[in-house]
Amino acid sequence: MDAETLEPITSLRQLAAAEAGCTRCPLYKNATQAVPGEGPSRATFMLVGEQPGDKEDLAGKPFVGPAGRMLDQALHDAGIAREKTFVTNAVKHFKHEMRGKRRLHKRPNNYEIERCKIWLDDERKLIKPAAVIALGVTAARSLTGKTLTIAKVRGKPLTLADGTKLFVTVHPSSLLRIEAEADKRAAYRAFVADLKKAAAEVAAV
Ligand code: URA
Repeated sequence: MDAETLEPITSLRQLAAAEAGCTRCPLYKNATQAVPGEGPSRATFMLVGEQPGDKEDLAGKPFVGPAGRMLDQALHDAGIAREKTFVTNAVKHFKHEMRGKRRLHKRPNNYEIERCKIWLDDERKLIKPAAVIALGVTAARSLTGKTLTIAKVRGKPLTLADGTKLFVTVHPSSLLRIEAEADKRAAYRAFVADLKKAAAEVAAV
């Protein structure tokens, strides 16, 4: 449903247009543009990140920066074809603060996540993915309405209210922040293992 006109939304194009005009929370004021989800309308997997980063805000596309490159590599290593995935975010506008000339990412709060959920719900209704993969706590919060601890739920499929399978794993940018090479490699392997598990569960259905 378009939040402004209450017209039903029946295509991704219509949805992107509605998101572009979104003023449901103040984040639109300082962002370049809303960043809609991207991918085929019949995707098997929907991957949900937190919010667009600096590069995504400028490009108008999700996961095109460093976290996106990490995600693409991990999907490849997990044997999940990028063409089978629809990639989106829990929050569609880039939340940041200025530090000198740099725009530093700020985590969206529960109010912003809640106000933006209408768009993620519409994406889910249009795509009807076999499984949703939440990348990090913000995505998990949006999808479940609960504050989850990743370590407690990763690797265990959950079921959303509409019956869709939900897998929760880390956000790829958390891997980019790990400094020790060995730790980073271990965290990357665990991330790929989570993705593989989701793929295996979907294949088994
Ligand atoms: N991080 C996210 O959560 N989403 C993006 O699109 C980019 C970085």
